[in-house]
Amino acid sequence: MWDQNKLYVFDTTLRDGEQVPGAKLNTNEKIKLAKQLEALGVDIIEAGFPISSPGDFESVQQVAKEIKNCVVCGLTRAVKKDIEVAAEAIKPAKHPRIHTGIGSSDVHIKHKFKSTREEVLEKAVDAVKYAKTFVDDVEFYAEDAGRADNEFLAKMIEAVIKVGATVVNIPDTTGYCFPDEFGAKIAYLKDNVKGIENVVISTHCHNDLGLATANTLAGVENGARQVEVTMNGIGERAGNTSLEEVVMALKTRRNIDMDIDINTKLINRTSRLVAETMGIPVQPNKAIVGANAFAHSSGIHQDGVLKSRQNYEIIDPKEVGVDSSQIVLTARSGRAALIHRLTNLGFDVVNDKNDIYPIYNEFLKVADSKKEVDDADLAVIMNKFSKK
Ligand code: KIV
Ligand code: ZN
Repeated sequence: MWDQNKLYVFDTTLRDGEQVPGAKLNTNEKIKLAKQLEALGVDIIEAGFPISSPGDFESVQQVAKEIKNCVVCGLTRAVKKDIEVAAEAIKPAKHPRIHTGIGSSDVHIKHKFKSTREEVLEKAVDAVKYAKTFVDDVEFYAEDAGRADNEFLAKMIEAVIKVGATVVNIPDTTGYCFPDEFGAKIAYLKDNVKGIENVVISTHCHNDLGLATANTLAGVENGARQVEVTMNGIGERAGNTSLEEVVMALKTRRNIDMDIDINTKLINRTSRLVAETMGIPVQPNKAIVGANAFAHSSGIHQDGVLKSRQNYEIIDPKEVGVDSSQIVLTARSGRAALIHRLTNLGFDVVNDKNDIYPIYNEFLKVADSKKEVDDADLAVIMNKFSKK
């Protein structure tokens, strides 16, 4: 039985994240990242899609052997051969899970499967039944649930729970929903599906409209207890919900009281390891893990943050493994930031007109000529004033 007070973190960096063009990992790289995710404290690692290639089968199998403290999961379509291959790949795992599923929206049913609701429903049930012959822990995904008719979705979810699904995943595959809509979908399932209280409801949101984190949080607010996420938000197209955003949103605001077993101090290190190993750099303004997430560059903000960090920071950078916030000196910086940096460098300057103003004016000349003023530039400026 699952823990009702806990939010399960299902990391799919190695599966949905690895689907990003150019992000492909070899077996050693998958093992290295899986170990880092285990240290970070994720509950479930989706290690790959074993039928997709012999290399991925091997990677999933090796991850299954190495990882002891997380559930190791393999993805399948609702196809017997997929399920058999995934079952074989995850066999060495201490806690194995098969993640199987099929499309649930009419768009997918008509245009992807050229099928009917009835046939798709039957395939969903058969897939879960078959997966249950290999493992106890079977997660079912209703692909494109974001665009699915809620009544049909509820029917599908009820049918797979009846045959033993332990987790039901409600993906917003195309990143289509608004948060109120996605939250209402989860609430509808909670209210209308028999047996739903016995399984974990999972979210799996894509970021096509930049709403993946908001939708995931709306799902959690309405009863989802597993979140499917990736480090740095990587994943198909515009990506998946990012682990660091969901975890830090819930820990920072604390308006949903649940245990989350993530060691947040390892977030920054994990983010960098994923970016380097996959060769997918993190955008500088990315929440939590971007290079500028704790950097202050305008005079007003720098002055405020130097008076009290709380003025412009809602998270202590140390909480996510970043040593300290940064004061970046640019042409938009003010005297407070300049004095702060010069003092740190050992220069004796005070904020009065005679002392700092000429230095500040010289600083602005340099700052206007380049993007960032570094310590070497400051040394040259201070040399002119021979003020050490
Ligand atoms: O986005 C999606 O629907 C998926 C499923 C395979 C879970 O990645
Ligand atoms: Zn996905």
